Parts: sequence; C-alpha cells; structure tokens
Amino acid sequence: MRLQLRVLIDAEEIAHRVQELGQQISADHQGQKLVVIGILKGAVVFLSDLIRHITVPLEVDFMAISSYGAATQTSGVVQLLKDLDRPIEGEHVLIVEDIIDSGLTLSYLYQLLKSRNPASLRTAVLLDKPERRQTEFTPDYVGFTIPDMFVIGYGLDYNHRHRELPYVGVLES
Ligand code: IMP
Ligand code: MG
Repeated sequence: MRLQLRVLIDAEEIAHRVQELGQQISADHQGQKLVVIGILKGAVVFLSDLIRHITVPLEVDFMAISSYGAATQTSGVVQLLKDLDRPIEGEHVLIVEDIIDSGLTLSYLYQLLKSRNPASLRTAVLLDKPERRQTEFTPDYVGFTIPDMFVIGYGLDYNHRHRELPYVGVLES
C-alpha cells in the first residue's frame, strides 16, 4: 500500500497558534516561575517553539514514557523510561505533549506529577483528537482539535520517522 502525504495544518498556522498559546500561558502564570516538562520525543518541536513565546521565567525538563502498543491502550499501563531531573514540589508545572489521543498517557503523567505536590499543574497539547478519548481528560491548552486521523510532522512520528516536517500532515492510502 502506498501512502500519500497531505498537509493538514501548515507551518504558518502552527506558528500563529503556538504564539497565541505562549501568550495565554504567560498571562495565566504572571508573577510565577514555570517548570515546562516536555514528553519525549514527540513534544520537542512544539516545546521548542512554545517556550520562545512564554514571557515568565522558566526551566525545562523532560520525561520519557513507553506505551506497549495495543495492549497499553486498553490497560492504561504506561512505563516510565526517563524521570525528571529535579523535584517539582511547590513548583508551577506545565506538561507539554504533542497530541492527546486516548488520553491514557496524559492522565497517567498528570496523576504521577500531581502526587509530587506541585503548586499548580497544567497541560498543553498541540493536537487533540477528542473522538478517541478512553479516559476523561481535558488539557488546559489545545493548539488544534482534529478528527480521528493519524498525523505526522512537527514532532509527531510514524515508525520513528517524519518528525522533522515543518507542518502537520496526514498519511492517506
Ligand atoms: P494517548 O495516550 O492515546 O493519548 O496517546 C498519546 C501518544 O500517542 C502521543 O504522545 C503520540 O506519541 C501517539 N499518537 C497518538 N496519535 C498519534 C498520531 O496521529 N500521530 C502520531 N502519534 C500519535
Ligand atoms: Mg508521544
């Protein structure tokens, strides 16, 4: 089967929306210092652009998790591959993720980080596929809501590839 790539959200639209999100996040955290946590690897492109539009002081940290494919999707079991370098107790924390799909990844991470008693905990995703949700989870900041389709680019991969594309595209057969 040959897959074709169609642009869903172009680089200009992404840049504009990411700037808006950065402004909103800055306004919501006035007078605070932020710890911005990127979820490897998909969130790195979004995070890199987003933090350059955040005007409050911030630190960056990363977490990595693995999902076990189909089995994980149903069980909700997520394995932590890389934890934060520093404690977040008393900190204002923003989790940055590329996309929320079933919601299992973000709800797992949210609960894990919440248990460490941050002063506040919010979540930002570039893309939201609400139709696919298996658990009740609503991110605080959403770049774009998209239909149930598999997307790549701007950090998102298909079989570890295509993360470098400057736009969000959809693979179609
Ligand atoms: P969730 O736990 O089902 O919400 O899945 C979130 C993770 O699944 C994201 O961090 C992505 O790695 C991956 N994912 C979900 N949908 C897509 C997609 O359309 N393209 C690429 N990766 C996706
Ligand atoms: Mg991911």
